Amino acid sequence: MSNLIDILDLSVEEIDGLISVANDIIENPGKYAKACEGKILATLFFEPSTRTRLSFESAMLSLGGSVLGFSEAGSSSTAKGESCADTIRTVNCYADIIAMRHPKEGAPVVAAKASHIPIINAGDGGHFHPTQTLTDLLTISRHKGRLNDLTIGICGDLKFGRTVHSLIAAFARYTGIKFVLISPEELCVPEYVKTETLDKKGIPYKEVRTLEEAMPELDILYMTRIQRERFADPAEYERLKNSFVLDLPKLENAKPDLCIMHPLPRVNEISTKVDNDPRACYFDQALCGKYIRMALILKLLAETPMLLSEVPETEQEEMLINKVFCENPRCITSVEQEIDHIFHYTDKENGICRCAYCEAQKKI
Ligand code: NCD
Repeated sequence: MSNLIDILDLSVEEIDGLISVANDIIENPGKYAKACEGKILATLFFEPSTRTRLSFESAMLSLGGSVLGFSEAGSSSTAKGESCADTIRTVNCYADIIAMRHPKEGAPVVAAKASHIPIINAGDGGHFHPTQTLTDLLTISRHKGRLNDLTIGICGDLKFGRTVHSLIAAFARYTGIKFVLISPEELCVPEYVKTETLDKKGIPYKEVRTLEEAMPELDILYMTRIQRERFADPAEYERLKNSFVLDLPKLENAKPDLCIMHPLPRVNEISTKVDNDPRACYFDQALCGKYIRMALILKLLAETPMLLSEVPETEQEEMLINKVFCENPRCITSVEQEIDHIFHYTDKENGICRCAYCEAQKKI
């Protein structure tokens, strides 16, 4: 592995390894202070960010490396119409590793194909956010002492919330996990998450509409923001934006050792009165983000990259290249004309296939 595009690019053993390195960094920061001397991290953020970008930069600086990059697409040549692949080829000349965030789903796959240096997906549209999931796993393991046998409530925008999709994929590989999915009907998890992850792996889950009914059984409550920027219709966002607000009265029936999490930023989902409750973990979560990203940078820089174009031919056989076209308006293929449309069969008998960039499903 030399890129992190999807949390499933890492095995459970590799994730355990990252968590243990992150814990060692927390205990012995001096040991790592020069580990990346002479190395450069590029942070290419085509979409806003506070925690992810700054924690990546702080991580690299704390490893003795340097950082360069941009924090908005408007200040890069993207504003002049440069393709994602050309930007990445250029940055390959100036850096040793790239962390990128992009509004289009699958953009990091395009980047990885064009890159000789490791690509880290720091969030692609409403799709995936694997380094947030690593952050979440480190936080939970430190607060709970385990990643198994947990009932996890995930609340808010489960449709467009990329942190949610990566979190579910990650926890689906641990034992004794139950999900309680709390959202308005309009914002429930995408179908592919249900069929390809929850159903396929036989993971118990239920969908509920209120925080109150979920609260008593939860070990983890993962709040999320309604993702305004992903709505096609602003009126729909206005209607749904205050669907869930966690306040102290709602916590009355919660377990005493509940772990309240949020990837942040919060808009209105958690009252600031909850911040002083010992169960509030979200600012500690932001801190964990730095340490796990330090561990990730160390790991990726120690590996030899493999170009995606070098995937074994047996795997390529199952690909449909420019035979099926993705219609998801949020997919990177919707804006970059030269990218091959690539689909994989998920159910060949019934002609069901999935876009290699954004997971959009099609029947052919
Ligand atoms: C999240 C994101 O960007 O997806 N933020 C983060 O990286 N910590 C959550 C969000 O924006 O709602």
